[in-house]
Amino acid sequence: MSAILEVSPSLSVAGRTASGVRRARVGLLGCGTIGRAVVAAITEHPHLNLDCIGALVRDTNRVRADVGAPLCTDPARVIDEADVVVEVLGGVEPARTLVIRALERGVPVVTANKTLIAAHGPELRELAHRTRTPLLFEAAVVAGVPFVGAFARRPVLSGVSALTGILNGTSHFITTGIERGADFADVLRSAQANGYAEPDSSADVSGRDAAEKLTILLHLCGASSVRVEQLCRRGIDTLSANDLTAARALGGTIKPIAHASLDAGRPGSWVGPAFVPSTHIFAQFHGVTNALHLQWGTDAPVLFAGPGAGPAVTSATILDDIVEALTAKETDTFSIGADSRRADRQTLDLSSAPASQWFIRLSGATFAPDQVAEFLASRGLTALHVESNGFGIAAITATASWRVATETAEALTSIGATVTLLPVLEASR
Ligand SMILES: NC(=O)c1ccc[n+]([C@@H]2O[C@H](COP(=O)([O-])OP(=O)(O)OC[C@H]3O[C@@H](n4cnc5c(N)ncnc54)[C@H](OP(=O)(O)O)[C@@H]3O)[C@@H](O)[C@H]2O)c1
Repeated sequence: MSAILEVSPSLSVAGRTASGVRRARVGLLGCGTIGRAVVAAITEHPHLNLDCIGALVRDTNRVRADVGAPLCTDPARVIDEADVVVEVLGGVEPARTLVIRALERGVPVVTANKTLIAAHGPELRELAHRTRTPLLFEAAVVAGVPFVGAFARRPVLSGVSALTGILNGTSHFITTGIERGADFADVLRSAQANGYAEPDSSADVSGRDAAEKLTILLHLCGASSVRVEQLCRRGIDTLSANDLTAARALGGTIKPIAHASLDAGRPGSWVGPAFVPSTHIFAQFHGVTNALHLQWGTDAPVLFAGPGAGPAVTSATILDDIVEALTAKETDTFSIGADSRRADRQTLDLSSAPASQWFIRLSGATFAPDQVAEFLASRGLTALHVESNGFGIAAITATASWRVATETAEALTSIGATVTLLPVLEASR
C-alpha cells in the first residue's frame, strides 16, 4: 500500500493538514459489513490522509453501533462533495444510477459490487473512459488477491485462452466439509455460524456469485457481450458425500469450479462442481481459499491464489483502489480495459460446457460395472476408469461433448438411475 497519498492536482481536495499534505474526502455508498470495515480501515491508516465525509444508508433511525462516519439518506451529499466514492450497496439499483452520477461528475468510483459490474461493467467502463474518471473494482472478484487491475490494463495477460477458478469461498468451504464426511445442510450451517456464508446463501450455493465473477473476468478478456445468465451453471446443493467418496476412489476430489474456454475450436463455460484430479494444483486448496488459473495456448499457466473475501481483506483492497483512483494521471486508460472488445470473442457460444472428460456416478439402480461401461460406450462415452463400492458405480470417461454426456445421463435417468455428471478439469501443466 502507498505510504503517503499525494492527491492528483486535477482532483479537488478537502483541505490540508498542519503539515500541508492534502486530505482526500471519501464518500461511502452503503455502510453494512464492508462499508463499516472501510471506515475502520481508513481510521487504521491515518498516513493515507483520507476522511470519510459520510455514508449512505437506507435508514438513519435504525439502532446501530457507531460506525465512525456520519450517516445520511441523500446520495448527493455523499457523491457531490467527495474526491472519491466507494460503492458498497450491493445489487444493481440504486448502485448503477449512483455510480453513473459520480462518473458523470468526474468523481472516481471504487466498488466491490460484483452484481453491478457483471451486469453493467462494459457500459460503466465506457462511461469512465469517456469522462476520464477512474472506476476500480478490484474487490469485486477474489477481493483478497489483487489481480483484476492488471487484467484490465494488460492486453496480453487478458488474452488468455482459458480461465479456471475457485471463485466462491463459501461453496469451497462446503465441498471441503462434505469431503470430510459432513452432509450438505450441516456444513452450510457451520459456514453460516463461522461467518463464511450469508444467512441467505442462495447466490453462493447456486453458483450465481461465481458466475458473476467469471462474467467480469470474461468482459476483461474481450468477451464484453457475455451475460451471467448465458453461462452453463449448476449448484452444489445436489452433491453428496457419496460423490466425494467416488471421486476419491477415482483419484481426485470435487470442487466448485468456474471455468471458461475462449478457444474458438472448443468454446464453453462451466460454473458448478467439477472433478479435480489429485495432480491438479486446485486439489491442494481447501476451505475458503480462492484461486484463478490462467492458460494461454500451450504456454505455462499463471496462478493467483489467496483469501477470497471477508471484511478485512475486502476493505484493504478497497483502500488500495482508493489510493490508485486518487493518484491516477490524465494519461491513464481509465478502466476501459486493455482489449475490451475483441471481435473474435463477441460471438463465442459459452452456453454449454466445453468438451472434456466426464465424471459420472450412478446409484439407485442395479448395474454391474461392465454393464455400465458397455452402456456408456454405446452412447459414445468411453469409460477409462470404473470403480464400484458403497457409493454405487462411478467412472471417468474419455473426452466427449457436453451434448453426448448430458444425453447419456438423461438416458440413464430414464431407466431408473440417479446420476451425478461433472466435467473433469484438465490436469494443470
Ligand atoms: N461481505 C463480503 O465479504 C464481501 C466481499 C467482497 C465484496 N462484497 C460486496 O460488497 C457489497 C456490500 O456488501 P455488504 O456485505 O457490506 O452488504 P450489507 O451488509 O448488506 O450492506 C449494504 C449497505 O448498503 C445500504 N443500502 C442498501 N441498499 C440501499 C439503498 N437502496 N439505499 C441506501 N442504502 C442502501 C444498507 O443500508 P442499511 O444499513 O440502512 O440497511 C447497508 O448499509 C456487495 O456488493 C457485496 O457483494 C462483499
